[in-house]
Amino acid sequence: MFAHAWGTIALLASCLVSTSGAVTYSPVKPPSYPLAVRSPYLSAWIPGNLVASLPNSNAQFWAGNNLVWSVIARVDGIAYNLFGVASPNDNTESATVTAATYTSTHSTFTVTAGSREFILDFFSPVSPKNYVRQSLPFSYLTVTVTAGDSAAVQIYSDIDSSWTGQTSDSSWSYSTSAETGLFQIEANGAATYSQNSNGQALWGSAVYATRPSDSSSLSIQSGPRVSVRDRFIINGTLSGNHADWTSGGVVGFAHDLGTTASKSAVTFAIGHVREESINFLGAAQTGYYRASYESTASAVVHFLDDYASAYRESTDFDGLIDSAGTSSYGSNYSDILALSVRQVYGGIELTIPNDSLDTSDVKAFIKEISSDGNINTVDVIYATFPIFYSLSPEYLKLLLLPVFEYQGSDAYTKDYAVHELGANYPNATGHPADGEEMPIEESGNIIILTYAYQKASGNTDLSNTYSAQLKQFAEYLYANGLYPASQLSLNDALGELANQTNLAVKAAVGLASYGALTDQTNYTTTGKEWADKIWTDHLGTDGAGTRFLIQYDTTPWFLVFNHYPDVLFGLKVFPDEAYNATADFYPTVRGTAGVPLDGAINWGQTNWQSFVAATVTGDARNLFISDLHSYLANGLNTAPWSDRYWVEASNGYSAGQSYSFRARPTLGSHFALAALSGADIWSS
Ligand SMILES: *[C@@H]1O[C@H](CO)[C@@H](O)[C@H](O)[C@H]1NC(C)=O
Ligand SMILES: *[C@@H]1O[C@H](CO)[C@@H](O)[C@H](O)[C@H]1NC(C)=O
Ligand SMILES: *[C@@H]1O[C@H](CO)[C@@H](O)[C@H](O)[C@H]1NC(C)=O
Ligand SMILES: *[C@@H]1O[C@H](CO)[C@@H](O)[C@H](O)[C@H]1NC(C)=O
Ligand SMILES: *[C@@H]1O[C@H](CO)[C@@H](O)[C@H](O)[C@H]1NC(C)=O
Ligand SMILES: *[C@@H]1O[C@H](CO)[C@@H](O)[C@H](O)[C@H]1NC(C)=O
Ligand SMILES: *[C@@H]1O[C@H](CO)[C@@H](O)[C@H](O)[C@H]1NC(C)=O
Repeated sequence: MFAHAWGTIALLASCLVSTSGAVTYSPVKPPSYPLAVRSPYLSAWIPGNLVASLPNSNAQFWAGNNLVWSVIARVDGIAYNLFGVASPNDNTESATVTAATYTSTHSTFTVTAGSREFILDFFSPVSPKNYVRQSLPFSYLTVTVTAGDSAAVQIYSDIDSSWTGQTSDSSWSYSTSAETGLFQIEANGAATYSQNSNGQALWGSAVYATRPSDSSSLSIQSGPRVSVRDRFIINGTLSGNHADWTSGGVVGFAHDLGTTASKSAVTFAIGHVREESINFLGAAQTGYYRASYESTASAVVHFLDDYASAYRESTDFDGLIDSAGTSSYGSNYSDILALSVRQVYGGIELTIPNDSLDTSDVKAFIKEISSDGNINTVDVIYATFPIFYSLSPEYLKLLLLPVFEYQGSDAYTKDYAVHELGANYPNATGHPADGEEMPIEESGNIIILTYAYQKASGNTDLSNTYSAQLKQFAEYLYANGLYPASQLSLNDALGELANQTNLAVKAAVGLASYGALTDQTNYTTTGKEWADKIWTDHLGTDGAGTRFLIQYDTTPWFLVFNHYPDVLFGLKVFPDEAYNATADFYPTVRGTAGVPLDGAINWGQTNWQSFVAATVTGDARNLFISDLHSYLANGLNTAPWSDRYWVEASNGYSAGQSYSFRARPTLGSHFALAALSGADIWSS
């Protein structure tokens, strides 16, 4: 799962100080707000601790490097920096931030500038059932001036080549399509499918676009940052001139709203487009939307045309996430779900073949952001799966299809399931010979995920088409699963260990899932017999049978989580005693900020805490959800929400600080409890 730590980021994260001032944060101040989070390469954020100084703080790519993206407004001739102006021009003032909110699709900031109030709405649609809308690699920024006195108002915004990943050598161009103005910025001389050291795509282009609103007139300009902004600050309009690209130069738009006392809004589209988006086994995949909107210009025009409709859907979708969270475990839980959603879907891309543009051949790819960049890691899909079970079971199929196709090819010869499709997103070119092997882990995962898809969607297509592979993996589990040989599990920080309890639990639940998937009760019976050995006969517990252990011996306890699918699917593999005993045990080993992953370490993972929260009841469940909420809201973190954190002060970190991971799509695990209330609840 993760081979390399992302150590430097955590150090950066620990030295920022909260300056919340008079800002109202609702529902809470999270570690980082998603601004434009739609793909692994369109992933712009603002740390919660920078929101009070939003006018002078840069957006950041998920890795923490700055992205230049500014908004400046003039009110009766005075220019106010609203957002992202780290080096203010002369003769500008800073707006005052008064409120910040987030929902599952919007991050919204209210600022005052002179006599008027502005709302910046950063809207990243999450539309899992509308593949065109979901696959468009763009995000909206709408700047609204609310009703007020009658003042002359102009709104300016720009970006620079930081969005291309190569600030030393890029180029830009401008085009129009009807009323829409479109800037594109590209890194020069970069190889297709290559990234910079922060994980930004070097191929493709960054996109910034807008069109006049009913009440605005639009002007444009590109050139050196200070002079383009000065032109706006002094005149309220831009020159229409395009300079040659320069390092630090910007492409800018200005909307002149005239003298207005009423509410008025302008919308920008920001994006990152790669025509050849994924290399799947040597053939290019492209975004699903290209079947309908083949050129970037037509895609951007459509995206802006689609705003009202996408906005309406987002209102319904936000409402659904809020009620799903609240009804299953109160508003603390809905706060957690709402922040998780964009991070999950923003780690995934929906594609079709670049040559045929055949929309009946859809695939999905997920990036193991920050932990190692692997593509379609099977255990990452496993960690994420509760959100798909709840909202879009089809994604389980779309993510597994490339895995099954690869495993069925001559290139793959193992008798157990593969760990991932390649070491470096977007190159799904096959599992490298020296890549991680997790035989029991991934064989169990493939079966469990296929069953989750079938149970949530009612569709048998995946299990029918790949019945031979599923049978092979079930037989592998049957032959090897009760006493797993020394090997890695997804908790690869443990290293290679034999007889890992959590792996045997996965094998037992995997066999029972296979039995349910194929109507062969003997597999289900075997799963139950193994569970009885592991729990009732104490193979994987302490002598008194009060807790699971890391291995079958006298090792420390482990937060075993692989029986979560047992509960979700209602298989009754493990006896009630196991659930009751662990519910009693975990509160006794809670650290300062939560329950660690095992009895030998000081950190925990929100994924597995969330799985276990769904398997226990009573005080233990309260504890897991409330600890997760305090971790979300404790003000100690600034990275896009990390699923790993210190539960005790350790290694120079405080309890409640994140531990190197960031922005991983695995936050789909947070839906584990909500998934118990029903599958496939989003029907738009
Ligand atoms: C993907 O493969 C291409 C071609 O071999 C290479 O240029 C590129 O750097 C690779 N991308 C990553 C992220 O490793
Ligand atoms: C303001 O606009 C006028 C008219 O277009 C132009 O002549 C002048 O140079 C502009 N001023 C600045 C500072 O760009
Ligand atoms: C992808 O499709 C575009 C448009 O047809 C084409 O120009 C490009 O060469 C294709 N790329 C690959 C790698 O086939
Ligand atoms: C696994 O556990 C069994 C039962 O305790 C034991 O016989 C076996 O030697 C263990 N395997 C390894 C590789 O330690
Ligand atoms: C279950 O029964 C089938 C059909 O008789 C058999 O092929 C398979 O090996 C059995 N599997 C297990 C785990 O008992
Ligand atoms: C498990 O706990 C529940 C709730 O406290 C209780 O009703 C049930 O009898 C317990 N089951 C066992 C087997 O201990
Ligand atoms: C919600 O979470 C907070 C920590 O952020 C905790 O103090 C509070 O008790 C929780 N509320 C409920 C109802 O569990």
